[in-house]
Amino acid sequence: MSPTYNFKNCPSRNHTGSLKWDRYPPEILPLWVADMDFETAPEIIEGLEKRLAHKVFGYTIPYYSLYDSVIQYLKRAHNYSVKKEFINFLPGLVPAINLCCHAFSDKSDSIMTATPVYPPFLFAPKYAERELITVPLCLNNEKEWKLDFLAMEEAIQPNTKIFILCNPHNPVGRVYSKDELKQLAAFCSRHNLILISDEIHCDLIFDSSAKHNVSASIDKELANRTITLMAPSKTYNLPGLACAYSIIENPKLKHQFEKNIRGIITEINCFGYAACEAAYNFGEPWRKELLNHLQSNYHTLKNFLDAKIPQIKFRPMQATYLAWLNVEKLNIEKPAQFFEAHGIGLSDGTPFGDPKYLRLNFGCPENRLLEALERMHKSLIKENLIGHEQ
Ligand SMILES: Cc1ncc(COP(=O)(O)O)c(C=O)c1O
Repeated sequence: MSPTYNFKNCPSRNHTGSLKWDRYPPEILPLWVADMDFETAPEIIEGLEKRLAHKVFGYTIPYYSLYDSVIQYLKRAHNYSVKKEFINFLPGLVPAINLCCHAFSDKSDSIMTATPVYPPFLFAPKYAERELITVPLCLNNEKEWKLDFLAMEEAIQPNTKIFILCNPHNPVGRVYSKDELKQLAAFCSRHNLILISDEIHCDLIFDSSAKHNVSASIDKELANRTITLMAPSKTYNLPGLACAYSIIENPKLKHQFEKNIRGIITEINCFGYAACEAAYNFGEPWRKELLNHLQSNYHTLKNFLDAKIPQIKFRPMQATYLAWLNVEKLNIEKPAQFFEAHGIGLSDGTPFGDPKYLRLNFGCPENRLLEALERMHKSLIKENLIGHEQ
C-alpha cells in the first residue's frame, strides 16, 4: 500500500521552543530527547482545530467521550478492560512516577528498578529521599535484554516497597514477554511490592513477533498492586500537550495516590484531552504507517552500523525509536561530547546508568538519520578511531 502520511519531510523546529532542537546551535543535528520530528496525525490536528474553534478555554475536566476513547482503546489495542473509576488524568508520567514514590513508600524505604533505564526512574527515588536499588538487565545469548530475577532476589531488601518497570524498555527497546511478567508478578507478590508500570512506549512495537502485555492484565493479584502509567504522547508525538493517565484498579491504592496528588495535579489542559481522544479514536492508520517507517529506520541504522562502524555494538530491539549503542570499543573518553563536537547530538548513557553507551533517537526522516550516521562515520575516520576501508 502506498503511504498516505508524511514521514519524509518535517518542518524546521529551530526557535520553536523545542527542547530537542533549541538545545544546540543549528550545525548540530539533535538525536537525543524522546520526541519525533514528524508532524502529528492529521486526524489529531483536526480534533485540535475543532477544540480551538470553540474559542473558550476554561478549566476542563475529563469528560465522558474522553474516558470512553481511553477505555475502548485499552480494550481494542491491549485486551485490557478498565473502568472509568480506575483512571486519573495527569500532565505526564514523570510527575506521576515522582508522586508514586511519595505515595507508596516512606523515607526509610527503598525503591528498585532495572538499569539502564529512562533517567527519571533513577532521579525520582532520590528526589523523594528514598534509597535507590538498581539491578542491571542481563543479556540472553548476548542479544536479548532481560530482567535479571536472580540478581533482583539478591539485591532486594526488607525495606523495598516499589519496583519501577519500563515496558517496552527505554533505552534497550525490549518488550517483556508474558512469562517474564508472570515472573515479575511472583517477585512483587513474594516481596509485597507496589509495581509502577510505565507503559508509555506500548504502541511503538515494530517487531511483529512481539506483543505488549499490560502488567495489570497478567493476574488479579498483580493488578491489585500495580499503578499503570500510559499516554498517547510518545506514539503520536504529543508530549508538548502534556496529557497522560494512570490506571489503578485497587481502590485503596487509588485513594493513597489521590491523597498525594491533591492540590498538586489539577485540571489537564483542554488541548491535551482533545488530542488524546482524537489519537485513540482516529490515529490508528497513522500509527501503523509510523511503525513501518520506524522499522525501516531501525534497519537503516542497523545496516549502516554493521557495514561501516561495526565497532559500535547495537543489539536487536523490538520497540521504540530509541537505539542503545555500545560505543566502548571506540575508546572515546567522553563519547557524547565527542559526537557533539562533530555535529551529532546524542544522549549520554551515564544518566541512564551506563557511560559505555549512547542513545540515538531515530524518530526522524530517513535522510536526517543517514546524515547523522554519515557524520558519525566521518568523525571517527577523521580522528583515526576507525580505518578508512569501512
Ligand atoms: C519510559 C518513559 N516514561 C516517561 C516518559 C516521559 O513521560 P511524560 O512526558 O509523560 O512525563 C518518557 C519519555 O521519553 C519515557 O521514555
